[in-house]
This record gives sequence, structure tokens and C-alpha cells, in this order.
Amino acid sequence: MAVNNEIGIGLLGLGGIGNQVAEHLLQHLDAVSSHLDRPLSLRRVLVRDTALPRAVTLADGVLTDDFNDILNDPDIQFVVEVMGGEDPAADYLKRLLDKGKSVITANKEVMAKHGPSLMEAADRSGAQLRFEASVGGGIPIIGPLQNDLLANDITSIRAIINGTTNYILTKMAQEGLDFGVALAQAQALGYAEPDPTNDIEGIDAAYKIAILGSLAFHTAVAPEQVYTEGITGMAAEDFEFAHELGYEIKLLAIAERTDAGVQARVHPVLLHQESMLAKVEGAFNAIEVCGDLVGPVVFHGQGAGAAPTTSAIIGDLVAAARRDGKSTTSRPWSKLPMKPMADLETQYYLRVSIADQSGVLSKIASVFGENNISIASLTQKDGDNQLGTAQLVITTHPAKEAAMQTALQGIKNLSVLHKVHNLLRVEPI
Ligand SMILES: NC(=O)c1ccc[n+]([C@@H]2O[C@H](COP(=O)([O-])OP(=O)(O)OC[C@H]3O[C@@H](n4cnc5c(N)ncnc54)[C@H](OP(=O)(O)O)[C@@H]3O)[C@@H](O)[C@H]2O)c1
Repeated sequence: MAVNNEIGIGLLGLGGIGNQVAEHLLQHLDAVSSHLDRPLSLRRVLVRDTALPRAVTLADGVLTDDFNDILNDPDIQFVVEVMGGEDPAADYLKRLLDKGKSVITANKEVMAKHGPSLMEAADRSGAQLRFEASVGGGIPIIGPLQNDLLANDITSIRAIINGTTNYILTKMAQEGLDFGVALAQAQALGYAEPDPTNDIEGIDAAYKIAILGSLAFHTAVAPEQVYTEGITGMAAEDFEFAHELGYEIKLLAIAERTDAGVQARVHPVLLHQESMLAKVEGAFNAIEVCGDLVGPVVFHGQGAGAAPTTSAIIGDLVAAARRDGKSTTSRPWSKLPMKPMADLETQYYLRVSIADQSGVLSKIASVFGENNISIASLTQKDGDNQLGTAQLVITTHPAKEAAMQTALQGIKNLSVLHKVHNLLRVEPI
């Protein structure tokens, strides 16, 4: 039986994050309780396999492999979800919220795909749903969007929100490594998973920008509405040439609100070396939010790891128990149109190999001209003597994405083209 007035906690998952959350709750129980003037108790912990050895020592009977032990325990009012994955986590969270139990989750996939419906479920039952740890690990960003910045009309979010890819890109930039070598190093050091697909293909960042865009613009941005390009096409030469032009290369997640609607995208960009985001190195994350009142604000810190993520989870848990600030939303969701990628207007960087012969430059220039794209700079670089090719690095003035894609196709059709190495967007400072 629960002690009178006790706050009962259930934990779903006891892996990398769950272990640290459980350990923190057990070792710092008095300190956490002191924020609440009420005792806390970790009552049940759900895992797949109760027979596995665990890094944290739990009292007898706390570990279970039956979700109903948590769902149906009347003395558990708060549930921390750190299982990961969509299924069965999304269903579990819905059932907990429907039952009036408040939920704290670190699950970006569930929040990106089911966030709006889970928020509605929480609003209906009066339970709280908090998900600070789902984006940016230990960096406070969900709370600021829901509370501190709520007076603002947010116009844009630009973020480095995947530490694995930022680590790889930093290594490529600083050590001239090729993508495969930098990825292997990141895997050896534990920065990248054995299957790195979600990180290097931009999927993880797309989940996170879907969550941030939905909150910032108060409209449901689904992960499949986020244009997503990863970093697997990056080569050492792109960093060398970008540096010569005064840029760094970063995987940015961007959500913008314009008169034409909301646009959300994840792709590598050239960022001016003077920009704050360009200076974010290694596995660190940074999120820049632009509001009409506050202007640009940047949140920077450790975007993953058990300790930073536990920091966000315990903060959410205490805030939920205090009912501090906004946990979900009482404002109705709008349905803003999504602006198609074809309507993006930006500058571009293009690196191609062409036949090293006279008249080639004018052929390339006329393809740009036919598509009303103005070339900002064109530099010829060494190519392959044996193949008789040269490399061209071209930057453009702002142009429509649709026009740039048509021009790219036109360039691919030229008989003098040897290879298109990379087309990157250039992000304004
Ligand atoms: N790692 C980070 O730095 C980080 C940062 C921010 C957010 N997150 C998020 O935090 C969450 C947890 O990540 P993690 O790295 O701790 O994961 P993890 O190490 O894979 O641990 C998952 C835990 O959940 C349990 N579990 C999984 N499926 C289950 C099921 N169907 N029924 C019962 N238990 C189940 C597992 O049980 P067993 O132990 O029995 O297998 C395990 O204890 C994910 O959503 C992740 O995206 C992670």
C-alpha cells in the first residue's frame, strides 16, 4: 500500500536511460521529494525480460514484464516511458493518459507520429504529458516553447539535433576524413549505433523537427511531411571547398512559418562560418528559435546520453507532480498548409566533374540561364587527368528549388558532364 500522500511512479524501460533514471530516483529520492514536499516512490518498472541482470538494484517485486501492473495500480499517478520505438509504446501511453495517469516520455518517434493525439488524450483526461527529453536530450527546449516563449509568434526553428551526424561532420571537417571512415570512428566510440540508418539518413532529426514544428506553429507536422535528406553523400572535397568559400557543412533541421504555410526539412547545408550554429562541434546540439518578440534565441548543450536525458526527465517529473506551467496544450490546433519543398527559395552549392575542354563552361552557364538562376561564383578545381575531367564548384544567388532541380536535370543531360558530386543548399546567416 502507498504511504498517505505519496507520489507513485511507474517506469517503462530499464535500458540505457531507464537505468540512470531509476538510479537517480533511488539515490536522490529525498532531494527530488524535497521539491514537492511529498514522498516519492518508484513502485513498478516494466522490462521485456525480468531475468536479465540489471545495473540498478530494485526492491523485490518492483520489476515486471506485465504492463497491466502499472496501468492498473491505483497508487501510480506518474509514468516515465523510456522503452523507445513506436509499438507498443504509443498504445501504452494512450491507455495511461486515458486512465488519467500523467506521462513523461523521452520517445521522439512516438511524439513525432502521435504527439497531437496524445496531447488531446491528456487534455481530455486532465493528465499531463511531458516530453522534454524527446528532443535535445538535456537541453531545455520543449518547456521554453510551451511556456517561456508563448507570447511569441515563432517564425523559424533551425537546429542541429542529431549528435551522431554532427560528430561525423565535425570529424570530416577537421580531419579531412571521408564519410565511411568518420562513421566507423563514430561507431567505435559509441556515438553511432551499429545500424546508423536513423541518424545518417536524417530520420531521427526529422522526428525531432516534426515535434518542434508542431509545438512552435501549433499545427500537426507529421514526420512524413518533413523533407528529409541525410549525410551519406558528403565527401571530404565538399568540406575543403566549403571552407574556401567561408562555410561549414552541418545537418540542419529547419521548420519555418511563412504566408505560404509551414515548411519542415532536414538536409545538409552550407552555413556561414560566422553563424552560431556553424560553431557547434562534435556530438553537441543547438536549437535556434526565432520569435517576433524575442528575436533569435539559441539553446546549446548535450543532446543525448543517459545523464543529460535523465536531467530532462526528472525535471519533467517534478514539474508534472507540481503541475507547473503548461504540460500539453489547451489551445486548439490549427491546420496550417504545408509549403512544398519545390517552393523553397535559397542559394545553392553544386559540385560536378565535367570534360576538361573548351566551351563546357558556357554550356553549364546556359542551363542555369534557361532556368533563370544567377551564378554567384564558379571555380574550376583539379579533376582526374586520366579521365580528362575537371571539377566545377558553383554557387548561385537565391533561386527556387523547382528551378534548381530542373537545371540539375539539364546539367545531367549534357554530354560533357562526367558526374554530379553534390548539390547542397546554402543557409543564410
Ligand atoms: N540514448 C539516448 O541518449 C537518448 C536520448 C534521448 C532520448 N532517448 C530515448 O529514450 C528511450 C530509451 O532509450 P534507451 O537508449 O534507454 O533504450 P534501450 O537501452 O534499448 O532500453 C529499452 C528498455 O525498454 C524495455 N522494453 C523495450 N520494449 C519493451 C516492451 N515491448 N515491453 C517491455 N519492456 C520493453 C527494454 O527491456 P529489456 O531490458 O528487458 O530488454 C529495455 O529495458 C528511446 O525512446 C530513445 O529514443 C534516448
